[in-house]
Amino acid sequence: MVKIPISLVSLLVSLGAAISSDIYVYSSIIGELGYAFVTGLQGSKKAGTGKAAKYRVASMVKHFVAFGSPEGGLNTAPVAGGERDLRSLYLPPFKRAIKDAGALSIMSAYHSYDGVPAAANSHAMNDVLRGEWDYEGFVSSDAGAIDFLCSIHHICETSTNGVTNPEPALIALNAGNDMEMAGSTMHYLTIVDQVKKGNLKASVVDEAVSRILRVKFLLGLFENPWTSSNYNKVIHSKANVEFARKVDEESIVLLENDGTLPISESIESIAVIGPQANVMQYGDYVLHGVFERGVTPLAGIQSYVGKSTKVNYAEGCKLWSNDDSGFKDAVKAAKKSKVAVVMVGTWSRDQTELWQGLNATTGEHVDVNDLALVGAQLKLVQAIQATGTPTVVVYISGKPIAEPWIKDNANAVVQAFYPGEQGGNALANILFGKVNPSGKLSVSFPTYVGSLPSYYNYNKGGRSIDPGHIYANGTLVFGHQYVLGTPVPMWLFGHGLSYTTFTYESAKVDQSKVSAKASQVEVEVKVKNSGKVDGQEVVQVYINDVVSSVVTPVMALKGFKKVAIKAGKTVTVKIPIKVSELAVWAQSQKYVVEPGVFQVYVGGSAETATLATNFTVY
Ligand SMILES: *[C@@H]1O[C@H](CO)[C@@H](O)[C@H](O)[C@H]1NC(C)=O
Ligand SMILES: *[C@@H]1O[C@H](CO)[C@@H](O)[C@H](O)[C@H]1NC(C)=O
Ligand SMILES: *[C@@H]1O[C@H](CO)[C@@H](O)[C@H](O)[C@H]1NC(C)=O
Repeated sequence: MVKIPISLVSLLVSLGAAISSDIYVYSSIIGELGYAFVTGLQGSKKAGTGKAAKYRVASMVKHFVAFGSPEGGLNTAPVAGGERDLRSLYLPPFKRAIKDAGALSIMSAYHSYDGVPAAANSHAMNDVLRGEWDYEGFVSSDAGAIDFLCSIHHICETSTNGVTNPEPALIALNAGNDMEMAGSTMHYLTIVDQVKKGNLKASVVDEAVSRILRVKFLLGLFENPWTSSNYNKVIHSKANVEFARKVDEESIVLLENDGTLPISESIESIAVIGPQANVMQYGDYVLHGVFERGVTPLAGIQSYVGKSTKVNYAEGCKLWSNDDSGFKDAVKAAKKSKVAVVMVGTWSRDQTELWQGLNATTGEHVDVNDLALVGAQLKLVQAIQATGTPTVVVYISGKPIAEPWIKDNANAVVQAFYPGEQGGNALANILFGKVNPSGKLSVSFPTYVGSLPSYYNYNKGGRSIDPGHIYANGTLVFGHQYVLGTPVPMWLFGHGLSYTTFTYESAKVDQSKVSAKASQVEVEVKVKNSGKVDGQEVVQVYINDVVSSVVTPVMALKGFKKVAIKAGKTVTVKIPIKVSELAVWAQSQKYVVEPGVFQVYVGGSAETATLATNFTVY
């Protein structure tokens, strides 16, 4: 029996996956992803009980807090913002993962927010986490972050004469950062000495230690420090392999399609082209063995079509290089095929090889100042399109690709993100229509990087080309506008096509007047599958707080539900909106649900959602 030491599993709550949940019907997609992640890992709100608790895992929610929008898009760079952004934007998803899902541990971030480094942010860790949310778990720093308080942020002096400076440990511990994940210097080793010298209250140390011990007791680590090795019954079980494929299938987003997709199963020939076609891209931090086990896009397509279809493969170009000497073979493959699928995108380092492959374009310590395709990839797509063979572009990428030419010229565009081991099979099932695509974008994809950050729920006044600001004849109101280009994203949040069509027939609310103290208001909408094949739709409800005391988004997602609808059938979908989620962080520095009219937009994306109804809060 193999003994596997128990460790804490980190949870990276990040943007980038697609909406694929019919379980939770709340507002922010990132909060729901976090909630699903934490409850999935921990098994239940209380560790030590529930189905998955026998694996005794504590999730670690990170990076606390406001880590996601650093200056210039550089990892760990300062983040601008104030209390309103913190309360309206950054804290709510964490609250869902921490307070509602019961995450047992948290990691503080590297960066500074509004001038305060995250590992020293007493307001976030003491006032909000412990004071307001009653969080009883512990907070650990990220690797080296305590040292960074002095060496990078310079809110203290760096060590002198080889003696470890105790100051950053005092700052971080007092701010509520219980554990140090050390880098080269371990500042928390100075703690005992500092208590003896009277520079640190023993009660602060006791508090931090008890929070860590509490989690270890909850996990049963002292009774049973080893887990039994039933893993081979779970990992790669038939059911879990199928589930992994389903997750991949539902996360693939069909961005554009002129009818080229799905590809006929009886097609004579298909060209599979591109530097992403015959590799696995998983993103960072993957397990040993996954590269050997993974099903590449090429392998998935080959095994789907069998022997009756000729698969013409050509790499075309390398991921990084500008060398186009491989184009000749790729063009030849496209010319002798009925359809060409070109796979391009971004890539991570192979971390099973200890941070090898330094030229990655996604992952930790890998930032980019452009979202265009790197190297010869765009030219490869253009060369294939120029053959006249219908061309499907598949983005296998960990971030949005901003290539307007591809949007305008490819016959179809598919966003496959980074899959799991079943990725190639899932992609083939989508391309040939065995599975109808149902993924939706969880972020807006910008048209130009210069317009970043690019998101649909920008605050009012954010774009002078808002509907209503354009004359009926199409002339823009004089105002703030790019001289060339547009601030409008290439594809908006929530976008994702299907091989069928959905028609939104009518929407209503269960109450036209709602008390600010009520728990919810329910939106009911009829959605028809008006096409010829069965499909799934993510029904999305967006709310606009028409007049508010502080500036609010033009509209914001407040509920969604994924539903399966058979061809020709109509379903009634009910989506509750929590009234408390209509609150603004008012100038009084409190959450207030303000009286007034709230408009309800319903549809299949932030772009297609139309004004359906409204209700009044009193
Ligand atoms: C990695 O990037 C450098 C530029 O920073 C480039 O000169 C080099 O050729 C690249 N290496 C590979 C293997 O692509
Ligand atoms: C468009 O309509 C606006 C408002 O009526 C008007 O001022 C403008 O001259 C029109 N532009 C064109 C090109 O017709
Ligand atoms: C709200 O709905 C009512 C009734 O349909 C309508 O008269 C009114 O104009 C709407 N108000 C807003 C702000 O959408």
